[in-house]
Amino acid sequence: VIRREADKHDVRVYLVGGMVRDLILGLENNDLDFMVEGNIKYYLRALSRTFEENYTYNDKFKTGRIRLNSGYNLDFAVARSEVYTSPGALPEVETGEIVEDLFRRDFTVNALAIGVDSQNWGTLIDFFGGIHDIEHKKLRVLHRFSFLDDPTRIIRGLRLALRLGFSFQDKTNLLMKEALKFGNFKRISKPRIIKEFSLLFSKKMDRRITGLLKQFPIFHLLDLDPRVDESKFSIIKRAECILDYFRQKNYNIKEWLIRMVVLLDGVEEKKLANWGLNRGEREILTFPSVIDTIIDKLRTNSTPLKLKKLLEGFTLEQILLLLIYTEGKERKQVYKYINYLSKVDLKINGHDLIELGLKPGPVIKEVLDKVWEAKVDNGLKTRE
Ligand code: CTP
Repeated sequence: VIRREADKHDVRVYLVGGMVRDLILGLENNDLDFMVEGNIKYYLRALSRTFEENYTYNDKFKTGRIRLNSGYNLDFAVARSEVYTSPGALPEVETGEIVEDLFRRDFTVNALAIGVDSQNWGTLIDFFGGIHDIEHKKLRVLHRFSFLDDPTRIIRGLRLALRLGFSFQDKTNLLMKEALKFGNFKRISKPRIIKEFSLLFSKKMDRRITGLLKQFPIFHLLDLDPRVDESKFSIIKRAECILDYFRQKNYNIKEWLIRMVVLLDGVEEKKLANWGLNRGEREILTFPSVIDTIIDKLRTNSTPLKLKKLLEGFTLEQILLLLIYTEGKERKQVYKYINYLSKVDLKINGHDLIELGLKPGPVIKEVLDKVWEAKVDNGLKTRE
């Protein structure tokens, strides 16, 4: 369909970016990015009609998207050309706009394209040695200002290195370190940085993470300078075990926040002001500042009701952090809460009691607590 409509509308269309890289590597990817030379608007409209799917189109940026029922996301953009800060870095433009568009990208492995209209069908476009770099498992930047122009690419680099098992080409390695040391990050939007961190930390971490973070102190982009050494890995390992367990049970967890907390030992509230997070997310990141107090209370709160009252206001992520940071008896208490107490609910509520003739007031809460306790007692006995 993509090819047929391209031919009909006389546009050149290329598959570009991460999907081409993953196709070559045999990795799964549902996000297809297409670069269009020609009238993107008509092309999109025609595609949407043929696919019988809606499309979105942004006239200012000349980008559009179609989500297919099959789960694939199709993104379209016109080839972009810009005035570069490094004139002469390109040869005379031989192949139209596509060279310039690809040159604007982050790593050579992401600067590959495959023609998908009949004129270029199946042609692999590799101006910058991306295939060579894929073969040698290297991440290489396209030009030396890349990380200064856009430091979020350093975080992307770490994500790619971990996902693909690639390492950085020597010069790229140096440019990343230089950018982290001398770059001025004041003007980059913090939410953009956070977005990249959330992608980086959304996947299970392995031993390589501490080494990478030591080499590339990306938390500097958030004005943070945590100590990251090998000992951090034991706590990460513990967090990963707990996340594995709850993921299997289909809990919906913001895993990236948990990994951030563990690696940073939490963040001070005042640092979070312009990160673009909601209150719940901020409370997860600052949770370590109250964890010791809660652990103390876990030690002393002996009845199920007290335990429930202590923990019921916390989010799932905070509860999981408690599991990560506790041991022995306290940890058992948290498990008891997650696996049992948090699931005990009453079939009656305050309204039912009022209907039965009780006067509204604190007594309602007391009765409900008593019923809850009785139910828990019963349940615990049956469980035993
Ligand atoms: N890109 C870039 N600089 C950024 C973000 C993106 O140069 N800060 C380029 C990359 O070359 C990338 C393309 O834009 O291939 C599309 O971005 P995105 O969809 O975020 O990445 P993909 O590589 O397609 O996918 P993934 O995130 O899985 O790597």
